[in-house]
Amino acid sequence: MSLVMPKVSKRVAGTSSVYQIEAWRSSWSPSLVSIAEEENDGAAESISGGYKVTSISHQGKSVEAVLQAISPSSSTFGPDIPLLQLHAGYVSKDIFHVHITDKAEPRWEVPDTLLPRQHTQHLSLAQSTSSEFSFSYTESPFGFSITRTSTGEVLFNSTSPSSNLDSLVFKDQYLEISTSVPVTSSLYGFGESTLPAGFKLVPGNKYTLWAEDVGSVNPNINLYASLPFYMDARSNGNVHGVLLLNSNGMDVLYEAELLTYKVIGGVLDFYFFAGPSPLSVMEQFTKLIGRPAPMPYWSLGFHQCRYGYKNITDVETVVATYKAKNIPLDVMWNDIDYMDVYKDFTFDPINYPVDQVKVFVDKLHADGQKYVIIIDPGIKYEANYSTYQHGIEKDVFIKDVNGDNYLGQVWPGPVHFPDFLHPNADSFWTKEINDFHDIVPFDGLWIDMNEASNFCTGISCTLPTDSSCPNLEEQTTCCLVCSDANMTQWDDPPYKINSSNGERPLGNKTIATSATHFGGILEYDAHNLYGFSEAIVTNRALRRSLKKRPFVLSRSTFIGSGAYTAHWTGDNGATWNDLAYSIVGVLNSGLVGIPMVGADICGFSGDTWEELCNRWIQVGAFYPFARDHSEKNSKRQELYLWDSVTDSAKKALSLRYRLLPFLYTLVFEAHKTGAPMARPLFFHFNEDPSIYAIDKQFLLGQSVLVSPVLTPNTTEVKAYFPAGTWYNLFDYSQLISNGDKGSYHTVAAPMDTINVHVHEGSILPLQEAALTTVAARKTPFTLVIAFSMKQGGEDAGKAEGALFLDNGEDVVMGLESGKSTFVKFNARRNERNYGVESVVKEGSFALKNGWVLQKIVVLGTSSVPRRLLVNGREAVHTVQVNKASRVSLVISGLGLAIGRPFTLHWTV
Ligand code: GLC
Repeated sequence: MSLVMPKVSKRVAGTSSVYQIEAWRSSWSPSLVSIAEEENDGAAESISGGYKVTSISHQGKSVEAVLQAISPSSSTFGPDIPLLQLHAGYVSKDIFHVHITDKAEPRWEVPDTLLPRQHTQHLSLAQSTSSEFSFSYTESPFGFSITRTSTGEVLFNSTSPSSNLDSLVFKDQYLEISTSVPVTSSLYGFGESTLPAGFKLVPGNKYTLWAEDVGSVNPNINLYASLPFYMDARSNGNVHGVLLLNSNGMDVLYEAELLTYKVIGGVLDFYFFAGPSPLSVMEQFTKLIGRPAPMPYWSLGFHQCRYGYKNITDVETVVATYKAKNIPLDVMWNDIDYMDVYKDFTFDPINYPVDQVKVFVDKLHADGQKYVIIIDPGIKYEANYSTYQHGIEKDVFIKDVNGDNYLGQVWPGPVHFPDFLHPNADSFWTKEINDFHDIVPFDGLWIDMNEASNFCTGISCTLPTDSSCPNLEEQTTCCLVCSDANMTQWDDPPYKINSSNGERPLGNKTIATSATHFGGILEYDAHNLYGFSEAIVTNRALRRSLKKRPFVLSRSTFIGSGAYTAHWTGDNGATWNDLAYSIVGVLNSGLVGIPMVGADICGFSGDTWEELCNRWIQVGAFYPFARDHSEKNSKRQELYLWDSVTDSAKKALSLRYRLLPFLYTLVFEAHKTGAPMARPLFFHFNEDPSIYAIDKQFLLGQSVLVSPVLTPNTTEVKAYFPAGTWYNLFDYSQLISNGDKGSYHTVAAPMDTINVHVHEGSILPLQEAALTTVAARKTPFTLVIAFSMKQGGEDAGKAEGALFLDNGEDVVMGLESGKSTFVKFNARRNERNYGVESVVKEGSFALKNGWVLQKIVVLGTSSVPRRLLVNGREAVHTVQVNKASRVSLVISGLGLAIGRPFTLHWTV
């Protein structure tokens, strides 16, 4: 249904009027009206009198309405804003937009400069008649609902879903709106927090969205990001997404059949994504917020990091030992240890002398490896420090309530924080990065502490006169003199969000919320955008300096960050629980368009141990971003430190490295469509209601299922296998065959084993294992072709897959003649006849690189080909049948150019 030539129809029901634009749905529940009436009557007890529609106009297919406070009331949260402006309309046929703001005064909104979004379009008649939504509203009190046209399902409904709630509250510092949610819905989102109850949200919880430097080791608490998006999977299999594009602090209460937003500023800026599949929601969502950034090929390799590498020799030894032990290592990292007294863009002259670091980095590069280093946003307040001087010259620092540069404290001691919303931030940051890169050619940047973290709390702080600051013994203890004088309504708003479960007020251990950015923007409004804005500026700076595809890893994120940065889940702990929660963290990041994500492998804080680290590298080898990282007070945890961990790492990482072409094709898919690399099972299988809660397993793409051990003393896993046949991807030996319905199977998982299976119907492009991605890229390709094997029989079947190739480091990732190649593979089986073909787009790039398909592994058969035709001609080949399992055969010696279409046929 559409908003074409909207006619307003009016139904009068008691004191409430219900209007709908053109498409009144008979399924509209009359009970909504009576709830609205009750709400109207109960207004005296409310914190707001609610709103009524006083005028409405239709412009093309969108609706503009004025809402008036019914009986303007004041509560502890402040007076109602008297007049509101509502806009509702389509962004495209599957994205609907509802925007409500103050009619009289402009209010804070997520700046278009950070998150450029398309404005609501006027669809053509043809488009609008096929649109996915219809919009309805009640006149008094005002509420609205969004319905899926094709099914009549109400997707969002704010028309007073509960008699205890106002349908709309709009005050300067308090906005409230609720929607009813079916009890059978599965909801996901509202990060970032560690969710012990699992990926699927649990009614009865409150999610607070306020970026804080709180370790992810802490469950059920707001962490580093504000991500006001949720996905709603309905019991009929339809999925939709809802974004409230608002950067202010908020609580979201999820009760049995109700979701309530309590927001402390900004506007109500809702976007609804029709789906109806999870991947189509991701496609629509990332079309609006920006597609995930392309990632360099090397970033798919294994990364080693630690806070506490004492000197460059220490780091060199780690790299050398990985090599000596034959464990893959692509990227070596340095934490803040490399800096001169923790100052950004400096090297410690004693422990990390620049000349030695340069030699080290040159060697890394010669060996096909990369170097990534950390920078923190806090710039040390120190008169002779050049970065500080440049910041002062460009006047880029955030100001406190007195108009002075806001003084906080982080690792280097007293710092000012760059204002990444400032027009000079770009040139300031780019110059620092560029100059530093000229000294040591690092390959990527890790931007940490960008919530922003501050070891002090204060509306304004000054240096102490009588003591040194920082005291390096107690580095994280505040040594500034901070005052809470001049407290404003922005430091202490009337509604207190539940940050840190009520323990931390807004400005606690961060920049005071009364501080200001360029143009008077309040930190109160922009706080949650700090990491996002830093990632944008850093990504741009790297592009300019390196002239290559940037790799940025950010701790704090917001909706849209994925277009600029990868993410890790922050300071987890070396515990079994943290290992299990890491999967939820990875899935949640993918859900908001940040697919390149991982958790600190083996755990960041606390001492890890052999068994845990062993199981963790097995899971971590299949995170999209695989990095071992630990805290300086914990024991070291490089993968070579225990024999069993070394063995597991070699085994798991060698599969990861073989899968690189597949993983890189997932990076391409993410960049083009927003599809997460790591996905929950329900993204592709919804045959069983229990699948919506599975988060101890995950998929890579749509067909590789990872089923890890997440508990101690465990050597088998009870894992869910969706319908169809699944093959063990390590050696193709094992087969799980389910027929038409999925079920749980117990599979063996000895200490050196993680279960990774590939699903029937898919073709995976692989290369050979190697110690670096550079070396792996030079090896021949294999196609793994998985056919169905119902009940052990060989049946008709088909399989398909794709492969994207480019040089892995061009800024633009796309299909471009001579610079990239895209190949689709199709395989068919019909009784005794087998066929495989490739369809090549822009083959010249692959031809130039000499990439060759050497063998195919066919899963779901052991019948030996009688005659193999390659491109129609009989060809010489070697065939190997896996005798143990009798489910796979390998045809090798093919030597087919990846860049040229080919066909293979054989009969058995
Ligand atoms: C923060 C980061 C952590 C890093 C440490 C020192 O805690 O989350 O990864 O090691 O700071 O820079």
